[in-house]
Amino acid sequence: MLGSVRQDRNGVKVGKWVAKKIEDRGHKTMLIDPMELDLPILDRMYKEMKDPEPKFQKLHEMIFSADGYVPITPEYNHTTSAALKNTLDYCLEEYFFKPSAIVSYSVGPFGGINAAQHLRQIFAELGSPSIPSSLQISKVHEVFDENGGLISQEYEKRIERFLDEFDWYLEAFKNQRTKGIPY
Ligand SMILES: Cc1cc2nc3c(=O)[nH]c(=O)nc-3n(C[C@H](O)[C@H](O)[C@H](O)COP(=O)(O)O)c2cc1C
Repeated sequence: MLGSVRQDRNGVKVGKWVAKKIEDRGHKTMLIDPMELDLPILDRMYKEMKDPEPKFQKLHEMIFSADGYVPITPEYNHTTSAALKNTLDYCLEEYFFKPSAIVSYSVGPFGGINAAQHLRQIFAELGSPSIPSSLQISKVHEVFDENGGLISQEYEKRIERFLDEFDWYLEAFKNQRTKGIPY
């Protein structure tokens, strides 16, 4: 789930790299891109729409069918982006009882940690608890080359550890959902 709709966004490289890493583990991924979907600022939530346009149906399907979420958030003024928050707000029940794993990035030295912490609260409200670890990518403009290849190898080890943890929660939640959900 990408969080930037800026024309020169760094987030696409981060999102594609993370998606590839998840796919390497045998999972299917869907890249939710608010720019590609051309999502407007929220008027009605999906469940309130009488005759949803295809882009909203697609968003709903992707969120509903997923077993977990990996938001790729930039940090804008010490929080997540308006574009990511807007994308998240279209749905609610679709997220319930599925875990999230937060990836944040920035051009600064702290890798968007403020955005990641705020996003944790938002995902809690969406009913999608975030795993204890989050992955911060500092100086994101120096981490990938122009083709999206990883330059800074320190992230190879860090993402594997992060995804090992996410895999554990994905499986645990999935197993538990087969027994039913409280509401
Ligand atoms: C409106 C705005 C606010 C920003 N605020 C922060 C910030 O609070 N902390 C930070 O480390 N970087 C900040 N940045 C720099 C971003 O980390 C950098 O632009 C990054 O590439 C944003 O991700 P994107 O390119 O995918 O949009 C900000 C950038 C913008 C456009």
